[in-house]
Amino acid sequence: MANQKTIAVVGATGAQGGGLVRAILNDPQGGFAVRAITRDVNSDKAKKLAQLGAEVVAANVDDVASLEKAFREAHGVFCVTFFWEHFSPEKELAEATNMAQAAKRAGNQHVIWSTLEDTRKWVPLSDERMPTLKGKYKVPHFDAKGEADKVFTGLGLPVTLLLTSFYWDNFIYFGMGPKKGPDGKLALTLPLDDKKLPGIAAEDIGRCAYGIFKRGHELIGKTVGIAGEHLTGAQMAAALSKALGKEVVYNAVPHAVYRGFGFPGADDLGNMFQFKCDFNEYFCGARNPETARALNPSLESFEDWLAQNKSRIPLGE
Ligand SMILES: NC(=O)c1ccc[n+]([C@@H]2O[C@H](COP(=O)([O-])OP(=O)(O)OC[C@H]3O[C@@H](n4cnc5c(N)ncnc54)[C@H](OP(=O)(O)O)[C@@H]3O)[C@@H](O)[C@H]2O)c1
Repeated sequence: MANQKTIAVVGATGAQGGGLVRAILNDPQGGFAVRAITRDVNSDKAKKLAQLGAEVVAANVDDVASLEKAFREAHGVFCVTFFWEHFSPEKELAEATNMAQAAKRAGNQHVIWSTLEDTRKWVPLSDERMPTLKGKYKVPHFDAKGEADKVFTGLGLPVTLLLTSFYWDNFIYFGMGPKKGPDGKLALTLPLDDKKLPGIAAEDIGRCAYGIFKRGHELIGKTVGIAGEHLTGAQMAAALSKALGKEVVYNAVPHAVYRGFGFPGADDLGNMFQFKCDFNEYFCGARNPETARALNPSLESFEDWLAQNKSRIPLGE
């Protein structure tokens, strides 16, 4: 409809952007239309979004001209980067800069930047509690996102900084789910001590982003932190046990041990969990489930998420 506001969504075939695309399409009376951005308009995922009613266009976050074209005449844009595709914070910062510049040139009226903290504000490189990684980062996949905040604000964009949380979907896709130990018991191995981890259903990030766009000007210039729930490792293991009908124990490991696990990014994630533990009060305080629920009344708890997804968690049995 002519008076609908279009939201251009980067990462539309992925977790965060996909949640936003579906949130907009599921609310046909909401006054918004969606433009899904993908590198390949002919992929199965892109075609599925088109079938659901999205306008699907091609752009690449490495190509500012393609982004500008995709952002043109959209009311709002949702910007996200893909650290785990390349493991390069420098590339992530360059891609965020491309999106910010494209939004500036396209003149979009509301930008959401999906961000995380630059942990070096809390743990300077000289702080030896955790190793410095890739030469100048403490948590590479956080730090460049946080550094990019000032690229968006520095260009004077009408931006909302969206602080996201650990996806519970990592238990399905990221190899973080319970695994059988030598004693035959399923163990949830995380370097979380007895601290709480703000977590969220990945789909809810997009639903919250939709809630931010629906608020109009209210959240422009603000940082909004979201989570579904804050849970300890023991609480997540108990919920997993209940949902799976099998005992899952929480196996707390030291951060240094986790850093040494050897899988790609283990050092980055070990530092990330240490940051979340050492600054737990700040980290949880910055991600309020009530804020998320106000933006997205269907916000899922971990138990809700497990009810939908428990059969998809690989248990390595
Ligand atoms: N896992 C967590 O717990 C967590 C928590 C908070 C934040 N994050 C952050 O979330 C970010 C990833 O978001 P996500 O999980 O929504 O991603 P995702 O599900 O992996 O989706 C990525 C999508 O982005 C598109 N894409 C990849 N490279 C692109 C490029 N060069 N240009 C344009 N599009 C590109 C791909 O679409 P096409 O193939 O269709 O182009 C892909 O479907 C990461 O930076 C990560 O650090 C993760």
